Amino acid sequence: MRDAFGREINYLRISVTELCNLRCRYCMPADGVCKREHDEMLTEEEIVLAVQTAAELGVTKLRITGGEPLVKKNIVSICGKAAQVPGIREVCITTNGTLLPQLAVPLREAGVARLNISLDTLDAEKFRYITRLGELEQALGGIEAALAAGFEKIKLNAVLIGGFNDDEIPQLAELTRRWPVDLRFIEMMPMYDGGDFSEGSFISSDVVLQKLPELTEEPRDGGVARLYRLPGAQGRIGLISPLSAHFCGECNRIRLTADGRLKPCLHGREEFSIKGLDAAGMRAQFEKAILAKPAWHGELNYAHRSRSGRNMNRIGG
Ligand code: GTP
Ligand code: 5AD
Ligand code: SF4
Repeated sequence: MRDAFGREINYLRISVTELCNLRCRYCMPADGVCKREHDEMLTEEEIVLAVQTAAELGVTKLRITGGEPLVKKNIVSICGKAAQVPGIREVCITTNGTLLPQLAVPLREAGVARLNISLDTLDAEKFRYITRLGELEQALGGIEAALAAGFEKIKLNAVLIGGFNDDEIPQLAELTRRWPVDLRFIEMMPMYDGGDFSEGSFISSDVVLQKLPELTEEPRDGGVARLYRLPGAQGRIGLISPLSAHFCGECNRIRLTADGRLKPCLHGREEFSIKGLDAAGMRAQFEKAILAKPAWHGELNYAHRSRSGRNMNRIGG
């Protein structure tokens, strides 16, 4: 279905849980999230009905996000059912990777096509700092498990944080030589409560081009990243620049939160609930949400923070 500005909306991002086994400082508060009542959250049946509804309206690609989607007990079943919905060509997951040693094979068998895995640093001490709870070895083990399970076109996500990982840009980029994966550097977005970082920690993705002059440009592939490659590398380097060069004009996405709210825009306050609705009710809400997509999210910087009213773990990125 097209939105009011003629953009074809064919990509649904579903956050299946707000919970996470890590606490990344740019994403969520140190004490995590209040556990919500079970009946406030979408059931597996409602998630599948939402996927069917979206597919009828022209959605072909799903990305399952969180919180951390793999902490959800029935994640394999949800992905399996979603992958079977007529019209859905690709089910992808964005994960912190720590549970992939157990889950990479079952997810692949359930029909998951691709994985994006977060990795902000290669230093064990810094990994513990940024995730507040995690161990680098678990995340690296997850990437190895995904490769061993046969996943292709894996993308690693590194959020750029000045004074934290800008000194590691070359080492992170080197991973595209070690593995057949893309590595994307992402500009940190100022969400609702801002996490632990302020404007002083923001760095533009152009810093990557200064630090890696040997990068050569590659054609865009329909995603949100500008693409480059290191000489001889197996994978590409991507720059995701939501602040320095927003990509709203090409937006093809709609989002569904774990508590059943359709979000027309990642940074907008507007939400449309589908919790408890039947197929016809859900369809009407999807249509409203798609038509409510704004032309762009409005000014977004550290003086004009996201208007979403949620932290990233409650939207899914
Ligand atoms: P694919 O193109 O399917 O690989 O997905 P993706 O790169 O959009 O997904 P991923 O979950 O890996 O997100 C990477 C980064 O892009 C995260 O920081 C997201 O928050 C950000 N992102 C994804 N979609 C949007 C969007 O519509 N607007 C903005 N501003 N950021 C987005
Ligand atoms: N800005 C940019 N990216 C973020 N992510 C989480 N919070 C932010 C933020 N404030 C990224 C995670 C993950 C993806 C879903 O979103 O690192 O890779
Ligand atoms: Fe968890 Fe991902 Fe948020 Fe980190 S960025 S706390 S791994 S949801």
